[in-house]
Amino acid sequence: MTELPVLPGFPVSRPRRLRATAALRRLTAETSVRPADLVLPMFVREASTEPIAISSMPGVVQHSQESLIKAAHDAIEAGVGGLMLFGVPTSKDAIGSGADDPDGVLNVAFRNLRAEFGDETVLMADLCLDEFTDHGHCGVLDEAGAVDNDATLLRYASMGIAQARAGAHVVGTSGMMDGQVAAVRAALDAEGFLDTAILAYAPKYASAFYGPFREAVDSSLQGDRKSYQQDNQRSTREALAEVALDVAEGADMVMVKPALPYLDVLRVVADASPVPVAAYQVSGEYAMVEAAAERGWLERERVMLETLTSIKRAGASTILTYWAVDAARLLR
Ligand code: PBG
Repeated sequence: MTELPVLPGFPVSRPRRLRATAALRRLTAETSVRPADLVLPMFVREASTEPIAISSMPGVVQHSQESLIKAAHDAIEAGVGGLMLFGVPTSKDAIGSGADDPDGVLNVAFRNLRAEFGDETVLMADLCLDEFTDHGHCGVLDEAGAVDNDATLLRYASMGIAQARAGAHVVGTSGMMDGQVAAVRAALDAEGFLDTAILAYAPKYASAFYGPFREAVDSSLQGDRKSYQQDNQRSTREALAEVALDVAEGADMVMVKPALPYLDVLRVVADASPVPVAAYQVSGEYAMVEAAAERGWLERERVMLETLTSIKRAGASTILTYWAVDAARLLR
């Protein structure tokens, strides 16, 4: 084409007009990330007195109970919308006994945080056994060594009750067992925890992007989770089936995980879901940007905000991100 098409009587469209000043760009922005959209995932380690650095996640630590409270204060002060907690116990066993023990590391953390902050923030619990089992799987094993779906549901039900009792506002069913949302909902209701919400990880892909997280929780996993997490080659249809099941079972929110490599899935889920949709920007998504930024290959803050904006634009109303505090401070 040599000439611009011009309709008679109309001026030539010039999209650059609205890009000319920062004020025009701000006025015409469709997507914005608010600090309150962000949830900070945090790790708390049993019997530790000092925060311990996680080498594959620069800037992220395994907290002691004391440093957790201080860091939670900082996050709330920055305007972050919620906190998602993971426990790192000192001893593990085949059934993950530490998970539903009221004095287990995670439940102690919820008691402390709820006493400190009340309803000022949203306290979310990772409801999964992998941090607590000596074999590192998300469930209990049968005699053949396979993850036993229904035996695991009984453990999740008990874990959900313990977390609600300890003060979690939301429990995040992340183990990808069939029927886990229904099992946890029934258990919570039977114990009177009618107001404890369920954030269902659906879909959750068996992803290599979880690599740094394994260090963060001192994972003992050998092998992989492909018999319960979704195969990352197959995509959207199965994701929608998971969402439909979880919503039918009583999920109050659903989450897509990981985020950036699965934005197409997030878009489809966001369009179909009758409940709010979250996305989890996982450890590997964080680590790869941090590593490149450390080498001076990427501008850390710009890339951070660009990824979060992309996730929001693809349909997430809530984003779990290890950058929650830094991003909230930039966005205020
Ligand atoms: C399971 C769980 C995992 C993550 C969150 N919840 C690990 C896994 O499924 O293997 C990964 C989060 C991340 O990589 O940041 N408890």
